[in-house]
Amino acid sequence: MDKFIIEGGHELNGAINISGSKNASLPILAAALLTGERVVIRRVPDVSDTNYMLAILGALGAHVERSSGTVIIEAANIHPDAPYELVRKMRASICVMGPLVGRLHQAKVSLPGGCIIGDRPVDLHLKGLAEIGADIDMEGGNIHITAKKGLKGKTVRLRGTHGPTVLGTDNLMMAAVLAEGTTIIEDAAAEPEVEDLANFLNAMGAKILGAGTTRITIQGVEKLHGCDYTVIPDRIEAGTYMVAGAIAGGTVKLRRTRPDHLTSVIDTLRDAGHNVEIEEGTTIVVSPGKTPKGANITTEPYPGFPTDMQAQMCALFATTPGISVIKETIFPQRFMHLSEMSRMGADSKLNDHTAVITGVEQLSAAPVMASDLRASAALVLAALTAKGTTEVTRVYHIDRGYEHIDEKLQALGAKIQRVRE
Ligand code: EPZ
Repeated sequence: MDKFIIEGGHELNGAINISGSKNASLPILAAALLTGERVVIRRVPDVSDTNYMLAILGALGAHVERSSGTVIIEAANIHPDAPYELVRKMRASICVMGPLVGRLHQAKVSLPGGCIIGDRPVDLHLKGLAEIGADIDMEGGNIHITAKKGLKGKTVRLRGTHGPTVLGTDNLMMAAVLAEGTTIIEDAAAEPEVEDLANFLNAMGAKILGAGTTRITIQGVEKLHGCDYTVIPDRIEAGTYMVAGAIAGGTVKLRRTRPDHLTSVIDTLRDAGHNVEIEEGTTIVVSPGKTPKGANITTEPYPGFPTDMQAQMCALFATTPGISVIKETIFPQRFMHLSEMSRMGADSKLNDHTAVITGVEQLSAAPVMASDLRASAALVLAALTAKGTTEVTRVYHIDRGYEHIDEKLQALGAKIQRVRE
């Protein structure tokens, strides 16, 4: 298991390119199962999550080729049984369910376990598929789905106690594109990654309107064809490096972004006193403000403040003068990072799903352990200005969703080394 050795106190300056979105790539790769024709998908980040998805597509019978960021998939002859030993490694594998049901009217996918950020139910996914005619059985930890009478479009409301479901919306959309009639998803997730999936499906010949809003209309078609598609930039990767710029800049430039996907993060960093500018439409420039101050954040479904940026903001607020209050409404248990940061001297109190952070002068290095993808990225951010040299173990959590994070930070002047153990 690799670890990172990070020497704090080095100012970050320079420019890096933001990679394609992991969370857009995963459902788009799965959606390639909906046609037997050749599909080319560009700007797929080389991270373990996308590589797991490619392995699952291969195990389902698809032909998969990858050369750097470009993936070619031909799913001419596929079967509906997703392999447990691969699916259990990544919860997002659940998004092969929709395309398998949509094309084969069958799917067998293991029920994803929970994970460290909290319970990860799929009741809304199953509700959506059942509403358009799927029969669902649970047996031996597997979800068995058939649709003997085919799939018929309907209006479906997809919202749980914590708001809409991103992958649940994706699964229903992918099952509905070949269904008879029209499906309307009310209370759909409006994330840019859902819109990107809809754009990809439309490039394959689907008829989807309204993606990116909470009401999506899918008119079923007979067949889908191949296409050549480029995935949107990763807004959470960009947000993570924006926080790095606020914590340890100098001046950090992030190229190939979609600033319009980051409005809430840009506004929050400005409210906290930092400088964020947009250059030439797709470059975000961040530098620390002269008088940074604490802020209050509540995570919400898009376009609200993203839960995937919550841990990174805790790392910033740990050394921001004043009090910051962070309320997590999507995954209430998503505060693993606080206990590790307190080992570095952060001052935070957690009650229920709200963290209160009192900024300290400086954190100090300590051996810390990565736990989940975004919590681990937050520990790396905290280490950038901590006094001394921090060791972050289990960085495979970070490699799941950040393409070459050590190399990108080195390019900005950070002293970070990957040690293979
Ligand atoms: C996606 O997960 C993202 N993952 C997550 O990013 C992100 O945190 C999350 O959306 C919220 O934005 C991918 O896109 C691969 P949800 P998803 O279904 O779709 C509850 C990262 O760090 N819920 O939108 O699995 C659920 O428990 C990852 O990149 C149900 O109750 O999340 C949660 O409280 C982490 N029943 C809320 O809804 C269901 O059937 C939102 O979950 C489904 C979800």
